[in-house]
Amino acid sequence: MEKSLILALVLVLGTAVAVAPCRGYYSGAEPYVPAPKKVTHLHFFLQDIMSGENPSAVVVARPNVTTASNDTFGSVVATDDLLTIGPNVTSGVIGNAQGLWVSTGREVSCLTVYMDFGFTVGEFNGSSISIFSRNPVSQTERELAVVGGRGKFRMAQGYAQLKTYYVNFTTGDAIVEYKVTVIH
Ligand SMILES: *[C@@H]1O[C@H](CO)[C@@H](O)[C@H](O)[C@H]1NC(C)=O
Ligand SMILES: *[C@@H]1O[C@H](CO)[C@@H](O)[C@H](O)[C@H]1NC(C)=O
Ligand SMILES: *[C@@H]1O[C@H](CO)[C@@H](O)[C@H](O)[C@H]1NC(C)=O
Ligand SMILES: *[C@@H]1O[C@H](CO)[C@@H](O)[C@H](O)[C@H]1NC(C)=O
Ligand SMILES: *[C@@H]1O[C@H](CO)[C@@H](O)[C@H](O)[C@H]1NC(C)=O
Repeated sequence: MEKSLILALVLVLGTAVAVAPCRGYYSGAEPYVPAPKKVTHLHFFLQDIMSGENPSAVVVARPNVTTASNDTFGSVVATDDLLTIGPNVTSGVIGNAQGLWVSTGREVSCLTVYMDFGFTVGEFNGSSISIFSRNPVSQTERELAVVGGRGKFRMAQGYAQLKTYYVNFTTGDAIVEYKVTVIH
């Protein structure tokens, strides 16, 4: 009896020792049960302002190469852009888009955006959607990929249809209309 107890102890301890390295960072796989999906449509304007005393988008790095044209290829811009209900900033702020956009088009102006669109009012206050996408800004209308989200947008996927409302290529200021379809 005592022998079998010791054997059992050894087995238990042995198992514990063998399993121990996994504990703490891996708690086992469970089947993923997705919640029923919802479709949410969002409509807002992004204010990407590079000019003035209080810009919402600032160049944080640019390549040190001399090119024939004054293109911005390679520039990295950090943003905290306001999201507003209408095109005018006075229409009401509903959130902000924080992240980076990089000028990645060599031949034709194009950006790649890595941005988190966070909402600060209403049902989606505290939630955000993640956009990681090419943004061919030379086209007035374009589509971006929504690749994820936080809070009420957890596990989101979707797409954003963009339309440039205003752009000034001298200052770099732009106001862009976003119509986003989010499945979450
Ligand atoms: C930019 O490149 C030029 C030529 O290679 C060099 O002289 C200059 O120091 C560089 N400037 C910076 C800020 O790295
Ligand atoms: C580049 O920009 C400078 C300063 O804004 C301007 O004087 C020059 O004409 C521009 N060059 C080209 C090729 O556009
Ligand atoms: C935004 O609205 C303000 C006040 O309503 C107005 O003075 C301003 O001209 C508007 N700006 C634009 C770009 O429409
Ligand atoms: C949004 O949520 C924050 C944090 O929970 C809260 O402080 C704020 O009052 C909320 N804003 C609105 C407009 O509901
Ligand atoms: C762009 O901004 C500059 C500087 O504020 C201004 O002089 C110019 O008229 C603007 N161009 C357009 C098309 O709005």
